[in-house]
Amino acid sequence: METRIFENAEEIAVAAAELYKELINSKPDAVLGLATGATPVPTYQNLIKMYENGEISFKDITTFNLDEYCDLDKNDKNSYYTFMHENLFSKVDIDESKVNFLDGNAPDCDAESKRYAEAIKAAGGIDLQLLGIGTNGHIAFNEPADEFTDEAFKVTLTQSTIDSNQKYFGDVPMPRYAMTMGIGSIMRSKKILLIATGEAKADAVKALHSGEVTPRIPCSILNQHDDVIIMLDKAAAKLL
Ligand code: PGA
Repeated sequence: METRIFENAEEIAVAAAELYKELINSKPDAVLGLATGATPVPTYQNLIKMYENGEISFKDITTFNLDEYCDLDKNDKNSYYTFMHENLFSKVDIDESKVNFLDGNAPDCDAESKRYAEAIKAAGGIDLQLLGIGTNGHIAFNEPADEFTDEAFKVTLTQSTIDSNQKYFGDVPMPRYAMTMGIGSIMRSKKILLIATGEAKADAVKALHSGEVTPRIPCSILNQHDDVIIMLDKAAAKLL
């Protein structure tokens, strides 16, 4: 793992977007693993600027998102499908047929997991997987557990995740389940970029850097991947 510490979230967004620009310009049909949440939004804004300036094109890019809520319509304002379209896809020249999401309403979760795994494989694997981190150390929706997961699966969200995300749903109770890429699917990405900003992430970031690998701290598995870049602002890095 290579950890880089920045002054603030804006500086991270510039550096992260540069990493994407290098990849996209050297491999215009790259496969990107994308993440939702507040953390990646400034990076997506920089990617949109780069696209508008003619510096990058998403025309031949394929994307796989990490996760999607269950029991929510794909077009619901809080779905991750909507989030990605509002924050990136509708603003760049991506080919919608190359945009991939897990179906949170799939009647057969095992079949959906297999479908996603096969689609990732058929695309040639994920070149660069973007990750945020939960205050409980989750990556995607891999919550603290007794064992590391492999391919995508249906997860029961923990109270910590519900406490962090309920704000987006206002008075409507947020979903209790999600379909998420598993730890194995994330770890098979060729390169991983994890971004963490703000003091609330400092404990999880410290645990990630302790070197101990345990499914109780799902992000800790990243210690076993040989190409991980971690971008932190000073607040997230304050316990290192
Ligand atoms: P956040 O979520 O970017 O909204 O903090 C990150 C995560 O839960 O992975």
